[in-house]
Amino acid sequence: MSVTIKDVAEKAGVSPATVSRVIGSRGYVSDKNRRKIQAAIRELGYQPNVLARSMVTKSTCIIGLVVTDILNPFFAHLARGVEKVTWQEGFTLILANTDEDPDRETAVVRTLQAQQVDGLILVPSTSLPSPHLSELVDRKVPLVLVDRSVRNLAVDTVMVDNEHGAYQAVSYLVQKGHSQVGVILDNPEISTNIERLAGYRRALEEAGIPYREDLIRSCQYTEQSAHDIAAEMIARADPPSAIFTTNNFMTLGALNAIIERGMKIPEQIAIVGFDDLELPWMGPAQISTVRQPVHEMGNVAAQRLLARIRGDQSPALEIRLKTRFSTE
Ligand code: RIB
Repeated sequence: MSVTIKDVAEKAGVSPATVSRVIGSRGYVSDKNRRKIQAAIRELGYQPNVLARSMVTKSTCIIGLVVTDILNPFFAHLARGVEKVTWQEGFTLILANTDEDPDRETAVVRTLQAQQVDGLILVPSTSLPSPHLSELVDRKVPLVLVDRSVRNLAVDTVMVDNEHGAYQAVSYLVQKGHSQVGVILDNPEISTNIERLAGYRRALEEAGIPYREDLIRSCQYTEQSAHDIAAEMIARADPPSAIFTTNNFMTLGALNAIIERGMKIPEQIAIVGFDDLELPWMGPAQISTVRQPVHEMGNVAAQRLLARIRGDQSPALEIRLKTRFSTE
């Protein structure tokens, strides 16, 4: 026979309603009664029935976190930033990956909806209008976007100043005397790449350097794909003297292609990236890069979602955190 709230209440000498307030982390309970209830829960081995409670409170205390690839350190740190906040507030996460695939994202969102999550934090796999996300908004399911935005979707969105970060990175290369700067990006449809490419273009325009389409290359979001693109770029008869890579996997792929070719950084080819480098690679560790406050992005996204779950009806916010360009 499983232990019930009534058993805990009798053991602690309080009412079942008081026990329920402690379990649901809501309402006032004196420290003395809270301690007696927690002792009774431990002694009796009480386990709250989440499903039964959700029927009463209409809340599962579960949040869906949808990223593109948790094996990417960027998204692992993002998830840790989200969970630091949600766990403290009594919520559990269900994590899902979309592999940068909008169809997979649709299936994941629909599955999480069926699990009755109280809300979702999502890294969009495209910036194009997404019916499955508009449907969440129409159904008033709390949704916060993080890292990237989606057109025509009025929900809280937590990002960084991608355009300014890219502008700083490419301006640094121009100041070092580079006028032929290649750029390697993955999915050109996601807002981070759209904004970082805009920063690249602004840096060239302000320096009076012509924009060359042949120096702009996009690929799959894998290190190998970036490696192949970079290998082709540096093997040209007229190669760029510098490369801007728009995220961690692009940087790692390009670095490995450069090291494979036996080229010296920065003497023979300069490279500036976006994101911290945390995956092992063969060459020197000193790479100039644009660092993102990833953990803070996760914290802020979680705080915004909890506010929406608790009834905040204010207009949607676009929150931009600052990047930091660091030269090694
Ligand atoms: O690979 C992670 C990168 O893609 C980060 O720059 C993040 O902004 C995402 O867009």
